[in-house]
Amino acid sequence: MTDKEKPQEHFASAYSLQNADQTKAHYALWANSYDQEIGTDKGYRQPQRCAEALVQHGLKPEAKILDIGCGTGLSGIALQHAGYKNIDGCDLSAEMLEKAKAKQVYKRLFETNLNEPPIDAEDAIYDATTCVGVFSFGHVEPNAIDEILRLLKSNGLLVIGLNDHYYNEGGFPAKLDALVSEGKIEILSRDHGFHLENVEGSTGWVITSRKK
Ligand SMILES: C[S@@+](CC[C@H](N)C(=O)[O-])C[C@H]1O[C@@H](n2cnc3c(N)ncnc32)[C@H](O)[C@@H]1O
Repeated sequence: MTDKEKPQEHFASAYSLQNADQTKAHYALWANSYDQEIGTDKGYRQPQRCAEALVQHGLKPEAKILDIGCGTGLSGIALQHAGYKNIDGCDLSAEMLEKAKAKQVYKRLFETNLNEPPIDAEDAIYDATTCVGVFSFGHVEPNAIDEILRLLKSNGLLVIGLNDHYYNEGGFPAKLDALVSEGKIEILSRDHGFHLENVEGSTGWVITSRKK
């Protein structure tokens, strides 16, 4: 394959997105090659790590899960591999959702902008929500957790997988600390490990919380 024929890489430019229009345009271009670039070539480990965290914290196979920012569905596939079948998904990008639909792992899929609540879903209907790779610059802001908690049942699990870059610089730990001190969540685990295994230095966190 010549350089001209190779699909363009979109990973590096994802870190410079600044608003929803840029993010939508970015993922519209990336939808076709995302799975190959991130899932295969770069060795994306967060979907599996997040799904395993739900199993470790005792989430039952019949649990109803919302995969928030589901993208092309790599995070839904990981949930399915972990034994879950009752999964909905939502995302900002219609093109990414199209790819997720083709994977046939989600019951309901819908478009949403997490930074502009409300999400089109009723209060307290999910046993767990997953946010894998969606808290990032130009993506979803930490305050979106308030709206995500609305969708969770009491004692429901919230698992978030994010890279070090946003964890360290995006105001994320401060939001978690505030929710803990307000008595809204308890943190069950914080695990550090691979984000993209084949990219040097690409590590990240999987944080699992329980809604109080
Ligand atoms: C890196 S991808 C992760 C997709 C999937 N969870 C995975 O692990 O492969 C980030 C996703 O977040 C979505 N996203 C970005 N900003 C968003 C927002 N404000 N509301 C909802 N989804 C958003 C993007 O469209 C994209 O599909």
